[in-house]
Amino acid sequence: MIIKNISCLVTCAGNCPKIKENLKDAGIVDDGYVIVDKDKIVEVGSGDGYKKYLDCNRLVIDGRGKTVTPGLVDSHTHVVYVGSREKELSLKLKNVKYIDILKAGGGILSTVNSVRKTPIEKIENETKDRLDRMLLHGTTTVESKSGYGLDFENEMKMLQVNKNLNKKHPMDIVSTYLGAHAIPEEFKDNREGYIDFMINSVIPYVREHNMAEFIDCFCEKGVYTAREARKILEAGKKAGLKAKIHADEVESASAAELAGEIRAVSAEHLVSASDEGIKSLADNKVVAVLLPTTSFYLMLNKFAPAKKMIEEGVIVALATDCNPGTSPTESLQATMTFACFGLKMLPEEIINAMTINGAAAISRESQIGSIEAGKKADITVFNAKSLDYLIYHFGVNAVDTVVKNGEIVVKNGKLVYTNIV
Ligand code: NIG
Ligand code: FE
Repeated sequence: MIIKNISCLVTCAGNCPKIKENLKDAGIVDDGYVIVDKDKIVEVGSGDGYKKYLDCNRLVIDGRGKTVTPGLVDSHTHVVYVGSREKELSLKLKNVKYIDILKAGGGILSTVNSVRKTPIEKIENETKDRLDRMLLHGTTTVESKSGYGLDFENEMKMLQVNKNLNKKHPMDIVSTYLGAHAIPEEFKDNREGYIDFMINSVIPYVREHNMAEFIDCFCEKGVYTAREARKILEAGKKAGLKAKIHADEVESASAAELAGEIRAVSAEHLVSASDEGIKSLADNKVVAVLLPTTSFYLMLNKFAPAKKMIEEGVIVALATDCNPGTSPTESLQATMTFACFGLKMLPEEIINAMTINGAAAISRESQIGSIEAGKKADITVFNAKSLDYLIYHFGVNAVDTVVKNGEIVVKNGKLVYTNIV
């Protein structure tokens, strides 16, 4: 495959992950081209260099008027679920707080009820539709958490959906066990009991049966304390899972500090991270995954201190947090908008944060996240004459073409992949 005469080729190549000034360099090439052989990128250049490949019977895509980026990496999602929670919107408009909805058995726990009642096939179908929408919006790799089952059977059901769809769907799915997403109703008066159950029964099974690569915990006032999160994540790490943490989403629980101390791969949300927390992330090279659509949707009137994090040398990534409660969107283009207007990040910083730095948040930076020879041929072609234009024109889907593993899966904005079943 040849993608030629690209008006704005955004390679996100070079040193990785990208921090500080380097985050402002998106490796932009004017009049660029990309050569793909099977599922790999083999050459990247500018001008006429592609012409030597023209006689090889290759598929040619014309990049005139287009912006081409690495396939987008959505490094924090809860994409496996059933149902929807639009009723919570009017509660929020009446100023009922997210944590209070959860305490009253709504929020996460209402999706837990839906997931427990629903057979795996139906959950898989609903999730497949969401993965299709992600692909249509330019995403080619997604991290996907459990956490709406909480008991053994239903957590495994969710992780099995990740496994099944990773095989059947073009999207690459990186799986995370998030049993510590809430305290299930049946353990309401026995939190210790639930934590011990996760540590003694679930984590060993997850590891032994390769159900997940990461472990996560919702460390927040009213959910899991920093002490509990440390215990759960340390146990996960001991078993061979890599740690992520939902940290300081609404209020500070010193979770960013903890992320650094336990050398988590990533800490997510961080809206209320303290200055010490930010320093701990930078010192320990923990990727900060920021989720600006969630701040917007929770009506927090507050966004994560992205500028400060970047200045302090934190590795910043961006993701959708796709979930039925606090961010019902599959679109990383929505994240671009809120990263610009809420986090005040520059277009170059935004695109690096949802490609190469997103890849780092899921330990995939050597395979994906940039357009460089040797990387996987995951490429998104936008109907936008420049990167600035892509961020500027908001609220519409700019995707023209998506190449996944060297195959065209979206063409003229429509899905064209054939089921792998
Ligand atoms: O990232 N914070 C916890 N988990 C999700 C919300 C999930 C839900 O409300 O269903 C989040 O915001
Ligand atoms: Fe989340």
